[in-house]
Amino acid sequence: MENNRIIIFDTTLRDGEQTPGVNLNLTEKLEIAKQLEALGVDIIEAGFPAASNGDYLAVKGVASAVNCSVAALCRCLKSDIDRGWDAVKLAKKPRLHLFLATSEIHMKYKLKSTPDEVFERATSCVAYAKSLCSDIEFSCEDASRSDLSFICKILEAVIDAGATTVNIPDTVGYKIPNEFGSFIAAIKANVPNIAKAVISVHCHNDLGLAVSNTISAIQNGARQIETTVNGIGERAGNCAVEEVIMALTTRKDLINLTHNIDTSLIYRSSKIISKLTGVPIHVCKPIVGDNAFAHESGIHQHGVLANPLTYEIMTPQSVGKTESTLVLGKLSGRHAFSAHLESLGYHLSKGEIDEAFTRFKELADKKKKITNEDIEAIALDNKSNIPQIYKLENFKLTTGANQLSSIEIEIKYGDKVLSEVYTADGPITTTYSALAKLTEEKWPLASYDIKAIPEGDDALGEVIVRLKKNGRQFTGKSVSHNIIEASILAYLDCVNRALAEEQDLNVLF
Ligand code: KIV
Ligand code: ZN
Repeated sequence: MENNRIIIFDTTLRDGEQTPGVNLNLTEKLEIAKQLEALGVDIIEAGFPAASNGDYLAVKGVASAVNCSVAALCRCLKSDIDRGWDAVKLAKKPRLHLFLATSEIHMKYKLKSTPDEVFERATSCVAYAKSLCSDIEFSCEDASRSDLSFICKILEAVIDAGATTVNIPDTVGYKIPNEFGSFIAAIKANVPNIAKAVISVHCHNDLGLAVSNTISAIQNGARQIETTVNGIGERAGNCAVEEVIMALTTRKDLINLTHNIDTSLIYRSSKIISKLTGVPIHVCKPIVGDNAFAHESGIHQHGVLANPLTYEIMTPQSVGKTESTLVLGKLSGRHAFSAHLESLGYHLSKGEIDEAFTRFKELADKKKKITNEDIEAIALDNKSNIPQIYKLENFKLTTGANQLSSIEIEIKYGDKVLSEVYTADGPITTTYSALAKLTEEKWPLASYDIKAIPEGDDALGEVIVRLKKNGRQFTGKSVSHNIIEASILAYLDCVNRALAEEQDLNVLF
């Protein structure tokens, strides 16, 4: 089944959510799913329903929220397949995605099974899944370190059993582009019924080769590629959709294939996913990094002014990156604000618009110029779907050179107001120590990032905090004109998310 169209299977909500510290709730997953659909992905892998109730509900929610295909990941177990089918069956185009490891090391140490047992399990589970759903994908986990003849034998059998897509993951990001391309070509040449299925690839980025390996696979016959926005995912992540799509678009002269991605929505999608997951984008990241289209050296700037093609192989406009412009001011009304949010692609509920508008007004009082970036930051910092277990009431911090910092802080826990006075070395240590005492949640800090949005003197401070709890990381984020306030709100966001998930306070998780 080879044609000229590349199918984009997006796994931002499944493999991407396996990025350490990423914990999205249902509202956030639905927002991402809608953005992915707008971006033009063909299939959204919405989660792994047997893994947790939260994943099950997320797949179910996404299945009824979008029109594109929705896939549920399942191990080769009847109980996983039943749970996966239950979650995805109401999708307009449901898909079951079954996986089983095929490399010697995984079969021996992880599955404790012989190749014959793996073969039998894969084929019988695909046949069972096919009795429920017509669209079946089968993945040979750790395919790139598996024996080629064993892979070919399994693929032939699962295609006979009903698999319509066969996925070849480079699970540990081990292959080199030529080698991976030849591996795909060999599968294509040696699986007799391969024309009845789409060959897919799923490349991890451990050696920084996920995009290159994906392109090499395409050049050798793969027609589905599995990607995430910003390349997020397990360990070093997955193949980044924006990179592979812009490579295909820019080098259409060499690889003449089509896809359904609206490249003008790449930049916005990248930002939305970064904000909601709390995974920052490196400034040098291709396509979507802040520096991706910045020309620093005088020679480059001169060349670009004379003719952009001297140093630009694609334009910022082609990925939807536009100049930051002054858009709204102090006197703008609620209607103009909500219309502007819509024009930026943010579809908020009435309650969310109310919250965002209040924050916009507060900001407009403090800041002369309100840009698209400010408005996006406010829209994406919406807390209305996070249970406000702890809420900031007030704080006063004093700090200075060669002196200890001191904070007086009040937070609300239900109706109770809790207060603390704390003195220590450094404003953030002081603030976070006070919060740890107040919330009685003494979780070590895994990371703390602060960024100005947009750049410039009059910027908002965006803080992303990760706290470690019982071997897991939780992320909290916030923006404010006051960076200490943003730091406090991000900390409380993190604690509120973790506690809500733990106490199952919110079925949305
Ligand atoms: O990396 C991998 O092998 C996977 C499979 C489940 C497709 O994520
Ligand atoms: Zn993976």
